[in-house]
Formats: sequence, C-alpha cells, structure tokens
Amino acid sequence: MILVTGGAGYIGSHTCIELLQNDFNVLVIDNLMNSSFEALKRVEKITGKSVGFIEGDVRDNALMKQIFSNYQIEAVIHFAGLKAVGESCALPLKYYDNNINSTLVLCQTMEEAGVKKLVFSSSATVYGDPSPETLPLTEQAALSATNPYGRSKLIIEEMLRDLPAADKLNNANPWGIAILRYFNPVGNHKSGTLGEDPSGIPNNLMPFITQTAIGRRKELSVFGDNYDTIDGTGVRDYIHVVDLAKGHVKAVEKLLSNEGINGAQAYNLGTGSGVSVLQMVKAFSEENKVTIAYKIVDRRPGDVTAYYANADKAQKELNWTTELTLNDMVKDSWNWQSKNPNGYQQ
Ligand code: NAD
Ligand code: WQD
Repeated sequence: MILVTGGAGYIGSHTCIELLQNDFNVLVIDNLMNSSFEALKRVEKITGKSVGFIEGDVRDNALMKQIFSNYQIEAVIHFAGLKAVGESCALPLKYYDNNINSTLVLCQTMEEAGVKKLVFSSSATVYGDPSPETLPLTEQAALSATNPYGRSKLIIEEMLRDLPAADKLNNANPWGIAILRYFNPVGNHKSGTLGEDPSGIPNNLMPFITQTAIGRRKELSVFGDNYDTIDGTGVRDYIHVVDLAKGHVKAVEKLLSNEGINGAQAYNLGTGSGVSVLQMVKAFSEENKVTIAYKIVDRRPGDVTAYYANADKAQKELNWTTELTLNDMVKDSWNWQSKNPNGYQQ
C-alpha cells in the first residue's frame, strides 16, 4: 500500500489515479485545508477502484504512528504542504510549521516503522532566480530561495539528504528518497471531472486564464512585457499534471525495485521547453476558440525571467518522459473549467 499525504489536492488526486491504474493500493491522509473530499470520490469514479482515506494532519504524531501500525505501508508520497508564494511572505511561520514539521513527523514515524522509501514534492523554485547561461536547468544547478515557501522546500531537501548519510553511520537499512522538482504543473484529467480548484483569486497563470475564459475574472493581468525573453513576458516550463503524476508512479516503482534509489536523489520533472505568458494565452485561445482579455501590467515582485528543465536524469534513471503537449494542457484545463465553472462547489 502507498501512503499519499495531501492526496486530495491537485497533484495528489491525479497521482492517485495513476497509482490505482498501475494496481497500487492507495491510502490518503489529508486535512482538506486546501482540497475537497469530492476529488477522491471522482478518483474512485474514474478508476473504478477505492481509495483509503484518513482525514487528519501529517503533523499529528500519534495519528501517523497509528497509520503505520495499522497499515502495511511500502512507500510514501508526500504532497501535503502549503504552496502559495505570496502568502508565505506574509505568514512565514505558517509555512515553516506546516511544510517542515509535517515532513519531520512523517520521516520520524517512517523511520520508527522501518518504512524508508519516500517520494517528496519539491519545486523548481529551489533554483531561485537562475541566470540565462544555466538554462536548461540540471539538478546540479545552484540552489537558492527567493521566498519562505521556496526556503521551506530547500530546508526539507537538505534534511532529506541527511537521512541516507546517517544510515551509513548507524549501519541501518537504507533510505531511498526521490526528490521530485516540479516545474509548472497545469492541465487536468481528460475526463474534465478532476482539476485545480484554487480558493479565492488564483495566484497561478493557468487558473487565472481559465477563470477569465469562463467569465469569473474580467481580464488577465500579464505581469510585465519587458523581460529579456521571446516576447518580453515571463517564460516557464509548463508540464501536464498527468505526466507529472506518472512521474510519481515511476519514482515509486524505482524505489520498490531491486535496484532502488541510492540515497536522496533529486529529479527535475519538466518538458524541457520554455513557453511565455503570451504564447500560453495564444495557445489557449486558438485550441479552445475562446478569447482571453488581457492587459499588460507591472512586473510581479519576486518573479524570475525564465526557467525550464533539463529532465534527462528522470528519463535515464526513472524511465520517465513527458508525453502530453501544450495543446493537451490548454484543452484539458478548459475542459475542467468549462464543466466545473465553480470548481468542486457545484
Ligand atoms: P494542493 O494544495 O492542491 O495539495 C496539497 C494537499 O495537502 C491539500 O489537499 C491540502 O489539504 C493538504 N495538506 C496541506 N497541509 C497538510 C497537512 N499538514 N496535513 C495533511 N494534509 C495537508 O497543492 P498541489 O498543487 O497538489 O501541490 C502538492 C505539493 O506539490 C505541495 O507540496 C507543493 O508545494 C508541491 N508543488 C506544487 C506545485 C504547483 O505549482 N502546484 C509546484 C511545485 C511543487
Ligand atoms: C507563471 C508566469 C507570471 C499569473 C509558482 C511558484 C513556484 C511553483 C509554481 C510551487 C509568470 C505570469 C501569472 C498572472 C501572469 N509552485 N503570470 N499573470 O510564478 O512561475 O511559479 O508556481 O512550487 O514555486 O512560484 O507560476 O503560474 O504564478 O506564473 O502574467 O495572473 O505567468 O509572471 O511569468 P510561477 P505562475
């Protein structure tokens, strides 16, 4: 059985589908602070399989101990965490508490239970503000953080790298840890029944585009058109969430294989291609035949110019590569939003 923390969330729910479709049993723990139980009901409907669910907080030591003694957990995928960059600048302690303490409690209970195979949700944000000559980014690129959210991911990565190093000193069973650095996840399951449902005003580009297209927002604000990029707008490596979810299955399979994962290994999960904001708007409008009203506004503080991945390591070691295109991303994003104008709150 695979324990999926934060499995009711956007990436977690898509990963549950891929795990179930690859015949893994899945147990989710989620406190539903940024998600809905409805997402897991839809996962069950899509797959025709059931998902175990425990409503609770990963920081709850007693609950986590109980889970590891009641269930035969083989490996853990740890999605649970907070992810809004702006909020993390205003409420850093909330971010350090949730993101770091949840990982600490999780790893302590895993170690006590002798379950030492972990997949961790990291982010391309750990590359900070990369200089153009470092693109595409490999896992060796310099690490830094530009906000408390990013710093929480960096601190957790450092902590995770200490665990296998300690095994050697203690002659203990080895940890195997896949640190997956996601680039910019977008898109939804092709059924249009499962998707990203941010509360309040979306921070990220794609939900803002889809909410503008459905009429919930008047227009998209494009944050700056004077960057040193193809058209002056920011460039990112957008990855379809289903490809991303499949990357987790590959990482779990590798961890559970005889070969395993040696220590704590970081893997970039991205397509390798950069797309600008205006290129994304154009792709969305053309594929879905909808107009997106937009205006150019000032740069958003803290935004970086451009980044995209070199994902060769994931291809070589996890046998993973992206399959879905930019057109799939914009088509599936619109399919979800047009079928669920108010997200899960129908
Ligand atoms: P999400 O908010 O949709 O999912 C996170 C889930 O974790 C939610 O269901 C939430 O209720 C749950 N949760 C949060 N704290 C918890 C706690 N202490 N105990 C139990 N449950 C808790 O976010 P997502 O986009 O699916 O992101 C998943 C992970 O991937 C996060 O760790 C995030 O930092 C990371 N990540 C996301 C992105 C992105 O752009 N979406 C990019 C890079 C990395
Ligand atoms: C993408 C591009 C914006 C909204 C963030 C986190 C990162 C990771 C992914 C978790 C940028 C532009 C956006 C809008 C715009 N999350 N934009 N108008 O900032 O690359 O990354 O999410 O780990 O840590 O920082 O993603 O989707 O917010 O922005 O013009 O209304 O779209 O300036 O160029 P970002 P994003």
